[in-house]
Amino acid sequence: MKADIGVVGMAVMGQNLALNIESKGYTVAVYNRTRERTEELARGPAQGKRVVPAYSLPAFIASLSRPRKVLVMVKAGAGTDAVLAELFPLLEEGDLLMDGGNAHFADTERRLAEAERRGLRYLGVGISGGEYGALHGPAIMPGGHREGYALVEEILLRTAAQGPEGPCCTFLGPGSAGHYVKMVHNGIEYAIMQAIAECYDLMKRGLSMTPEAMAEVFSDWNQGELSGYILEITEKILRYVDRETGRPLVEFILDTAQQKGTGKWSTQAALDEGACAPTIAAAVFARIASALKEERQAAADVLPGPRAAFNGEREVVLKELFGALYLTVVSAYAQGMRQLRQASAERGYTLSLPEVARVWMDGCIIRSRLLFPIRKALAANADLPLLFMAEPFISRWTEHHEALRNVVTRAHQAGIPVPAMSSSLDFVDAYRTARLPANVLQAQRDFFGAHTYQRVDRDGTFHTEWEML
Ligand SMILES: NC(=O)c1ccc[n+]([C@@H]2O[C@H](COP(=O)([O-])OP(=O)(O)OC[C@H]3O[C@@H](n4cnc5c(N)ncnc54)[C@H](OP(=O)(O)O)[C@@H]3O)[C@@H](O)[C@H]2O)c1
Repeated sequence: MKADIGVVGMAVMGQNLALNIESKGYTVAVYNRTRERTEELARGPAQGKRVVPAYSLPAFIASLSRPRKVLVMVKAGAGTDAVLAELFPLLEEGDLLMDGGNAHFADTERRLAEAERRGLRYLGVGISGGEYGALHGPAIMPGGHREGYALVEEILLRTAAQGPEGPCCTFLGPGSAGHYVKMVHNGIEYAIMQAIAECYDLMKRGLSMTPEAMAEVFSDWNQGELSGYILEITEKILRYVDRETGRPLVEFILDTAQQKGTGKWSTQAALDEGACAPTIAAAVFARIASALKEERQAAADVLPGPRAAFNGEREVVLKELFGALYLTVVSAYAQGMRQLRQASAERGYTLSLPEVARVWMDGCIIRSRLLFPIRKALAANADLPLLFMAEPFISRWTEHHEALRNVVTRAHQAGIPVPAMSSSLDFVDAYRTARLPANVLQAQRDFFGAHTYQRVDRDGTFHTEWEML
C-alpha cells in the first residue's frame, strides 16, 4: 500500500505534522537525512501507526502514490535547497513539492520557477503553531500552484486547526503568497510580544508589581476582547516558579532577545514596498537594542534619567495600560494587513484579507479574539485602507487614545522605553493628521538638491533659488 503523502525532515515540526496527518486517516511516508531521527519516530510515537519510514530518498519516493505529494520540513535556507536539489531529479511531471519551512518569499519564487521548469507543482506553505500546533492543528498558509493545492486540499484542511470559522487553512494565492503571509504573521507576532513585554516593564518598574500580581492583570485582560495566545502564555510565564530558587523564573532570564528570520524580513519587505509598519519595525529594533547588554550596563552608570516609578493610582494606571495595549496590538494587525494589501497589489497575490484573518483565528501564535472584528471589518469593505478607519476600531481609538497618550507620557517621564506603544501612537497620530510637516522636508530637498516641489494653491512643479531670498 502506497503512502498518501510524504514528509521530509523529522525534527520537531516534521515529526509532529506527520503524526497529525496520520491521525486524520492518511498513510504518511517519512524520511530524514540522519536516519536515527526516523528510527526514533518509528520505534516511538509512530509505532503501530500508518507511518512508513524510509532510509533513502529513492526508497521514500518509491513509497508514495502518484502524483506524489512531498512536504519538506527542514531547516530553512540552505537546508531546504539541499533537500530540493536531491528531490527534483527523483520526482516526475505532475508531482507536488511543498516547502513548509520558514522560507524567505524570494527563495520560494526561485524554487517555484525551478519546479515549474521541471514540470512539477510547487507550494510555499507557511505553517504556524510550533510543536503543539504541528501535532494538534496549526494554521496553514499555502500559496503557489492552485492545481497543486487541489491535490492536497483535503489533507491540509483536515490537518489544520479547526477554527471558529472553519479550518485554519486556505489557498492564499499564486507565487510566494503563502510564505509572504507567514512572514507578516511573524512581524505582527514580534509587535504583540513587544507590546506585552512593555506592559510587564511598566507594571514592574512603574508600579512595583510582582510577576504574580501581573499575571492576575493579564488573566483579567485575557477574558475580554484582547484575549489571545500570547497574552495567555505570558500569564503562565509570570506564574511559573523556578524550582531552585522558589522565585518567578522570568526574573532569572537574561534580557537579550534574538531577531532573525521572518520578523526581520517582514520589516525589510515593508521598507522595500514603502509600506508603513513602524510598530512591527520598532519591535525588531527593540530586540536589537536588547542584545546590546554589555553596552546597556555600561550606559546605565553614565547616562542619567528620572526615577522609574509612576505617580498615580495603580488601578487608574492599569486601566490606561489596557487601553494602550489594545491600541498597540490593533496597530500591529492594522500595519500587517496594510502591508499584505500593498504586497498583494504589487506581487499579484490576489490575497483575500478576510480569509487571512480567518486562517489566523486558531492554531497560530497570533490567534486572538480581535481577529473576529478584524475579519468583519475587512469583509465589509474590500477597500478599507486601515483597520482604524472601520468600526469597532474607530470607537476603540476614540475610547482609548487618551489612555495610550497617558501611558506613553508616563513611561517617557519615568525613563521607561515603550517603542511599540509610542510608535503606534505616532503612527495613528500621523495617519489622522491632514497636514504633516513634509512641506518642510520638500523645501529642504529643493534647497540642497533642486528636487522641486508642488504647491497646495496651484498645479505644477516648482523650484526656488532659496539663497536669493
Ligand atoms: N520550530 C517551530 O516552532 C517552527 C514553527 C513554524 C515553522 N518552522 C519551520 O519549520 C522548519 C522545520 O523546523 P524544525 O524546528 O522542525 O527543524 P529545524 O531545526 O529548523 O531543522 C532541522 C531539520 O532540518 C534537517 N536539515 C537541516 N539541514 C539539512 C540539509 N542540508 N539536508 C537535509 N536535511 C537538513 C535536519 O536533518 P538532520 O536531522 O539530518 O540534521 C532536521 O530534520 C524550519 O524551516 C522552521 O523554520 C518551525
